[in-house]
Amino acid sequence: MKVLIVYYSMYGHVQRMANAVAEGVAEVKGAEAVLRRVPETLPAEVLEKMGAVAAQKAQENVPVCTIEELGAADAVIFGTPTRYGNMCGQMRQFLDATGQLWLSGAMVGKVGSVFTSSATQHGGQESTLLSSHITLLHLGMVIVGLPYAFQGQMTNDEITGCSPYGASTIAGGKGERMPSENELAGARFQGRHVAQIAMKLSV
Ligand SMILES: Cc1cc2nc3c(=O)[nH]c(=O)nc-3n(C[C@H](O)[C@H](O)[C@H](O)COP(=O)(O)O)c2cc1C
Repeated sequence: MKVLIVYYSMYGHVQRMANAVAEGVAEVKGAEAVLRRVPETLPAEVLEKMGAVAAQKAQENVPVCTIEELGAADAVIFGTPTRYGNMCGQMRQFLDATGQLWLSGAMVGKVGSVFTSSATQHGGQESTLLSSHITLLHLGMVIVGLPYAFQGQMTNDEITGCSPYGASTIAGGKGERMPSENELAGARFQGRHVAQIAMKLSV
């Protein structure tokens, strides 16, 4: 069973979370984690101005996802940074190219799940996750979040991402904060949980 983890990450935060999601998927017997990036849409000079060149280079080894791979997956976990309280344009563009999958019903009944990263604690993680779910519902996917069984989302002992809607991390205004152990544990939980449910649905 193939669980596709498809993400965009400008500075590496979502990528770090994606790796943890993949670790969680791999914990489930019979589930294979397939890690992919969505295509870049910004010109090289804009990426340079945004200080994203090094982080992009570090992801060159991750293959770019095709629409066919999306259609072939048994479950899909999407990772996107928060942009103005919403998914990033790169992910939007990728999803807006799925008309054929919608038309053929290829995604109907497959598990779909989302995780994110934002600069600030209240900068729109939940709105990004929930608004991303709308697209997955239009494709006919079965939405899976991050249940409270992942108790790390209940803690008040530290500032942390993660909510019932999905795993998340707080990157900081300058991207100076990388995902914490608690947030990575949430990402692993989400990967494992999605794979387990997809496995049950495939019976
Ligand atoms: C155009 C733009 C819009 C953004 N909008 C938000 C926002 O609404 N809320 C927030 O907290 N962070 C916002 N950010 C910060 C990103 O969410 C942050 O850079 C990202 O989570 C880092 O993850 P990455 O390294 O995987 O790209 C924005 C960044 C850019 C470039």
